[in-house]
Amino acid sequence: MKKKSAYHVAVVGATGAVGTQMIETLEERKFPVDRLIPLASARSAGGTVSFNGQDLTIEALTKESFAGVDLALFSAGTDVSREYAPIAAKAGAVVIDNSAAWRMDKDVPLVVPEVNPADIKWHKGIIANPNCSTIQMVVALKPLHDQVRIKRIVVTTFQSVSGTGKEAMDELLDECKALLSFTEPTPKVYPYQIAFNCLPHIDEFLASGYTKEEMKMVNETRKILGDASIQVTATTVRVPVYVGHSEAVNIETERKLTANEARAILSDAPGVLVYDDPAHKLYPMPLDVAGKDEVYVGRIREDESIPNGLNLWVVADNLRKGAATNAVQIAELLIG
Ligand code: A2P
Repeated sequence: MKKKSAYHVAVVGATGAVGTQMIETLEERKFPVDRLIPLASARSAGGTVSFNGQDLTIEALTKESFAGVDLALFSAGTDVSREYAPIAAKAGAVVIDNSAAWRMDKDVPLVVPEVNPADIKWHKGIIANPNCSTIQMVVALKPLHDQVRIKRIVVTTFQSVSGTGKEAMDELLDECKALLSFTEPTPKVYPYQIAFNCLPHIDEFLASGYTKEEMKMVNETRKILGDASIQVTATTVRVPVYVGHSEAVNIETERKLTANEARAILSDAPGVLVYDDPAHKLYPMPLDVAGKDEVYVGRIREDESIPNGLNLWVVADNLRKGAATNAVQIAELLIG
């Protein structure tokens, strides 16, 4: 991307859970924006979003939206990205795409700045932001992988409703209100009531019995870590939490790492905060981590069932590090 003192930045999906956070994050991190172009569907056109103290008018996304745009942050879902990301790239913008549309494309780097920043160099107009659950897991695991090589990962996620989007956040609140006034909720976004419940079902089921979300964690982890030999198996679960994904992660490593050694490595790792003091009931929880950019790690224990294994509890804000912050960090790398 041509170096400038400030850039024209389009945010596609500017009214959504992630898009709103992207605009906030650009402002918070003082990204050099000359002009911000908020784009959404025709339903939202004419409304406004606030950026750096100004009310900006939301425009309906069209094929012409990207003229003069340097950088386009996409968060309007896979279908929109599949259709419009190539149009934006062709118009000269560098796309940072938060959807699953391009992540596994061999011409598209999949980047977590703390893990594989050099991969942005080979982009051809589109850079993919990984799945939220994958991002927080690889930020925590890369420093351990570098020391003792991870052979196998077994992960179970506890994912908040904001990962599904704004309508799902409204659905959780509406269901809570309904249940507390003794009326039957009517789920629309999820197949079942999410309030006071857990759904072991995120994204579509595949013939194998796994969900697409689970396979994202398998395939994206290998691509980001640049190691196709790592074995990964995942169970992804939606829980009635607004913001913040939690993960129980078990790893088997080539060489032994004690819990204390892991704690020391992670304490020095970029983007990681170790919150691990069971004696004082200190462990990360989504309520504490919401609004933060770091990946929090606690409950670090040696897996006593195998010679070289560790258990960790990994929590991060899925809208920030799992989406908007990671995207803006990629943009920061791009402008050098
Ligand atoms: P809109 O508010 O106009 O529907 P979330 O992930 O929170 O559900 O948000 C999805 C975002 O993607 C919203 O900003 C939404 O805009 C936007 N969006 C959905 N469909 C389209 C579309 N066909 N074209 C442009 N933006 C879209």
